[in-house]
Amino acid sequence: MTAAPAIHVLPDPDAMSRAAAERIVNLAGNAIGGAGTFHVALAGGSTPRRLYELLATPRFAQQLPWADIHIYFGDERAVPPDHADSNFHMVRESLLSKVPLPEANCHPMHADPTRLERDAGDYSALLSRSLPRNAAGIPCFDLILLGLGRDGHTASLFPSTPILEERERWVAPVQAPAGDSWRLSLTYPVLNAARQLLFLVAGTDKAAVVQQVLRRAGPDTHLPAQCLAPAGDVEWYLDAAAAAGIQT
Ligand code: 6PG
Repeated sequence: MTAAPAIHVLPDPDAMSRAAAERIVNLAGNAIGGAGTFHVALAGGSTPRRLYELLATPRFAQQLPWADIHIYFGDERAVPPDHADSNFHMVRESLLSKVPLPEANCHPMHADPTRLERDAGDYSALLSRSLPRNAAGIPCFDLILLGLGRDGHTASLFPSTPILEERERWVAPVQAPAGDSWRLSLTYPVLNAARQLLFLVAGTDKAAVVQQVLRRAGPDTHLPAQCLAPAGDVEWYLDAAAAAGIQT
């Protein structure tokens, strides 16, 4: 476990996304300057869309050596890749369709509702053959982007779901509470092994959960995002609305 997380508060979602984009360019440069490759797992949901759109603009895209970048996903909904709920669909529309990332460097997390266990195993095998390992033999991302749900979930680690207890598998199926949709998600061992975690959280509706997670305030101190035990560095990029309940 490293030092306390670094917390960056920006006035609004666009400034937050811009600051996160600048940080990602920096992290990519460091990783590529070291090992020659930047392995990053992207978050889904709505918050990171603006970040991905910014990374596709010339100001940022021209600073990113796309041939040395490999893009993965932290979780995926069990829907076709062209479905409106698909994280891959959102990332393809906002980023992948606009930048020269080699197709071989894009690793969608296929989640077929009729074969989730097999898809989880396939993605684990991809991580095993693509990523460096830590001393425990766990695949090690350079960066994992994460969002935060109002219930304290991150990736698809939802409260009161069996995936929270998973310590062997690196990718596992999980049934999301809302609408009972199934998903695949990276598990705690992989999230904890990453060299860097970067949370991106915006909006008034997230202020209470941000306060609970960052200040361990409030009745519940076992929210999924609180139960991370990261070996690497953790940074939070917040807008002022999401940071309203914390002192920085
Ligand atoms: C997903 C994400 C999920 C998301 C949070 C926040 O697939 O939905 O992995 O963890 O980051 O639910 O979502 P918003 O950014 O839409 O608030």
